[in-house]
Amino acid sequence: MKRIAVLTSGGDAPGMNAAIRAVVRTGIDRGWEVHGVRHGYMGLCDDDFRPLGSRDVGGIIQEGGTRLGSSRYEEFKAEEVRQKALDNLRRREIDALVVIGGNGSQKGAHALSQMNYPVVGISSTIDNDVPGCDITIGVDTALDVALMAIDRVKVTAASHRRAFVIEVMGRDSGYLALMAGVAGGADCVIIPEVETDPEQIAAEIKHIAELGKGHAIVVAAEGAKYNARGLERYFAEHAEPLGFDLRVTILGYVQRGGTPGAFDRLLATRLGAAATEQLAAGNHGVMVGLIDGHIRPLPLAEIAGGEKTLDPALFDLVRVLAT
Ligand code: F6P
Repeated sequence: MKRIAVLTSGGDAPGMNAAIRAVVRTGIDRGWEVHGVRHGYMGLCDDDFRPLGSRDVGGIIQEGGTRLGSSRYEEFKAEEVRQKALDNLRRREIDALVVIGGNGSQKGAHALSQMNYPVVGISSTIDNDVPGCDITIGVDTALDVALMAIDRVKVTAASHRRAFVIEVMGRDSGYLALMAGVAGGADCVIIPEVETDPEQIAAEIKHIAELGKGHAIVVAAEGAKYNARGLERYFAEHAEPLGFDLRVTILGYVQRGGTPGAFDRLLATRLGAAATEQLAAGNHGVMVGLIDGHIRPLPLAEIAGGEKTLDPALFDLVRVLAT
């Protein structure tokens, strides 16, 4: 191994910069040249590379976002587009690629490795929807941002005797909503993994009012049918007496842009180092992640075909603790 490249792909996640830094500096420590690819797979196809030295990744461990830039590049699903990316990598005599990103990005990494190119993935997305991983880079910080918002909304909810639906990101996964609901002391969570009847939500909000509570907090995943807008629409059409006035807050991208906390910096740094360790050992076609509490490689094929499930006991716990 002489020369490697690194890219970030998909939604940015707090901690991506710490992972880039670790890849670059551990790669250099091994005597390799490291190149950064701008804007993910798009830059790979557009031949947008630049060499990275240790000083280029100085002072970025604490920064959210990604210094390399990212993109969602649907075109990469086409084999001829991936072939163009491989041609660029081979012409530049780059021996291997490190892909920092979530589910879709790791599928792209798998597709490249199936075309006989050495790739190692690093699991990074605020959605925590990568099969096989306990937790991905960015989730912990995104959760902290969501909790800060929930705590603040609770104050105004209590002041005005209101029910709030707070929507968090997560794409098709309810992980962020469930965990933010548990840690934020929500009265109810709505996630895509569990079918939700809006009448049941109405009954639960009414019950919270009957219990004598001064406010109600519902945390909804953006991917749920009855997310913030869905519920708002439903209640506007069905005029349920909820016992509270209802308001909605959609957190959106603020969850992605946070300054990475200690957990994400450490996880990202360990995963960046693990990626170059895998390459040095001649192991590729894998993604490194926190798996059963340890930093381990997992075959990319398992991620591409796998599915991540949630703990249903936590869903029930929210209801129990809301009383
Ligand atoms: O994958 C991270 C994520 O923030 C999801 O939670 C969200 O659904 C999606 O990205 C938004 O994507 P985009 O940045 O393309 O609008």
